[in-house]
Amino acid sequence: MKVGFYQFRPQFGKIAANTKKIIKTLDKIDADLIVLPELALSGYYFKDDKEALSLAEDPNHSTNIDSIINLCRDNRIHIVIGFAEKAKDKCFNSSALIGPQGIIHIYRKLHLFNEEKFCMSPGDVPLKVNEVNGVKLGMMVCFDWAFPEVTRTLAMNDAEIICHPSNLVLNFCQQTMLARCLENRVFAITANRFGSDNRPHGSLRFTGKSQIVSPKGELIFRAASQREACYITEINPTESHDKFITKHNNLFSDRRPNFYEL
Ligand code: ACM
Repeated sequence: MKVGFYQFRPQFGKIAANTKKIIKTLDKIDADLIVLPELALSGYYFKDDKEALSLAEDPNHSTNIDSIINLCRDNRIHIVIGFAEKAKDKCFNSSALIGPQGIIHIYRKLHLFNEEKFCMSPGDVPLKVNEVNGVKLGMMVCFDWAFPEVTRTLAMNDAEIICHPSNLVLNFCQQTMLARCLENRVFAITANRFGSDNRPHGSLRFTGKSQIVSPKGELIFRAASQREACYITEINPTESHDKFITKHNNLFSDRRPNFYEL
């Protein structure tokens, strides 16, 4: 299976331009699955909830999401893309799994980071694993990395690849994801953005370094910090099925949940 990510620098509020850039880069791409960053269409650093909602897409009535669906259909690929999701008067920080037939699933970020709490609503749907061409895909968004329960839940629901759209500003995630993959024996594709959102209320700089990690916790590839990168590699998702870390230790069946007071 050919999987990859597209690390780029969305322009804040320029939804049509960002969509066009994604399509220009990914049209004719030779891949099965491409992961894009969090909030890839709108940019990240909203002033408040009104601004977030004004830049959000209702996925059922969005020419921009429709363009991504057409991109998937024309190239027979699957895309995971982070976007601001408008649902009535709420805005969620969501991730859509899209294929040639349309939207397959939307995940709404469970753990909002810092000022996101003032601009968006926390996710309200359970974590879900979706099977695409026989491969089981889980989605989480950016700061979900800091909550090991998310990766664990996806892995225990048989996810083989975790798709992880991100807009990282702290420096901890990329290394931490090696442990998340090792302890769950899954692949993870973290697609981060680079550049800055310079807004009247402040600036945020994003850390790039998008990466793909193997179920053994090995870094398959990590992009540069502040450069555009479209990277694709061949992986075997079934490598995630072996949950043994030694001959006598299975990372799932050795768990002792009766002793975890969580
Ligand atoms: C983040 O969750 N975008 C840091």
